Amino acid sequence: MGPFPNLKDKKILLAVTGSIAAYKSLLLTRLIVKAGAEVQVIMTKAATHFVSPLSFATLSRKKVHLEIMEDDAWNNHVEMGLWADAMVVAPATANSLAKMAHGLADTMVHAVYLSAKCPVFFAPAMDLDMWKHPSTQDNVNRLRQFGNIEIKVGTGELASGLVGAGRMAEPEEIMQTLDDHFQTNITFSGKKVMITAGPTIERIDPVRFISNHSTGRMGISIANAFAKQGATVQLILGPSKLKDLIDPRVSTTHVESAQDMLEAAQGHWPSQDIAVMTAAVADYRPQTIADNKIKKKEGDLSIALERTADIAASLGQVKRPDQRLVGFALETENGLENAKLKVYKKNFDMIVLNSLKDKGAGFKHATNKVTIIQKDGSSKEYPLKSKDEVALDILAAIEKSFVEP
Ligand code: CTP
Repeated sequence: MGPFPNLKDKKILLAVTGSIAAYKSLLLTRLIVKAGAEVQVIMTKAATHFVSPLSFATLSRKKVHLEIMEDDAWNNHVEMGLWADAMVVAPATANSLAKMAHGLADTMVHAVYLSAKCPVFFAPAMDLDMWKHPSTQDNVNRLRQFGNIEIKVGTGELASGLVGAGRMAEPEEIMQTLDDHFQTNITFSGKKVMITAGPTIERIDPVRFISNHSTGRMGISIANAFAKQGATVQLILGPSKLKDLIDPRVSTTHVESAQDMLEAAQGHWPSQDIAVMTAAVADYRPQTIADNKIKKKEGDLSIALERTADIAASLGQVKRPDQRLVGFALETENGLENAKLKVYKKNFDMIVLNSLKDKGAGFKHATNKVTIIQKDGSSKEYPLKSKDEVALDILAAIEKSFVEP
């Protein structure tokens, strides 16, 4: 990794809180300086028990601030929050995350956090049980919802001697995240992209539902690839167990039923440049949802089903000339023909066909084999690849067809 060219001349505010991982932030400071950026370190009192402010001051070539009031001088936290191009809280302890998530401002670090106008990155560091605790997870989720960017913890030996998740990300990883963030002129920078993904759940009664095998994996891979290439990404995700794979730069709206997904998609569509429809939306839902659990009786039971709305088609109907709509087609027979028909019926600009007949393709596999079909009928078949690699092929096809002049 490195040498992190996009950090040159950037102003980074590094907030160090009280964890043994603070020693790693010394290296981080060194790397930021080496990349040609300016770094201002602020610390909590607890952090100074682990690493001395003098070490940070020496490496950053700047006085380290610990308190809002210092030597009778007022440290202007608002000014610091405005000065920075990015704020990085590393390590971020469970206590610090909780304060950030709930707006407490009793330290310099937390006051600056509240007044920061720049993007805020946080690299949690704690013992595995503290990390797993629902309070911590809830706080991390809140911070992500506020638009802060999580730098994921690693798994391994912890200071307590226990082994598990909770280690602060390595300084090089933090640098890479910052470098990616400051990268400009990348393919989709300035573009807004929406992706629908995952299954939908259609309730029958309080305990039962109709759904399908979709995991959301393909859509998450596409969302992550767009985020990496500079797009502002809105993911509309049905119930999925793979939330942890979502890149922190992606904003996610969680939905349950086809109707929820329709409303979310229609709400976001007018402000998007591109939408990619990967969701496996239920085509039918029970006509009524029973208020109580349906008890078994003698004989058979029929459940009356009604059609759900076609989300992709509804976006296709109101698509503007400057917008692009990409569909997916899952076919078990006559794939090419059926996919071409869907391009026309749903007003797609491009469709990605995956055939369940291909070994390793489709639901529950980490791999996929696709054919990309353009509106003019031309098509290109790709070999079996990981879903992350397929996502890159799809982005390249989108770039070639829509973004290049
Ligand atoms: N789609 C959608 N809303 C629906 C059904 C499908 O947005 N209610 C989208 C899918 O996300 C996909 C495309 O439409 O991009 C095609 O989905 P697919 O399930 O292959 O097709 P269907 O329209 O359901 O057609 P069929 O049942 O005839 O295969």
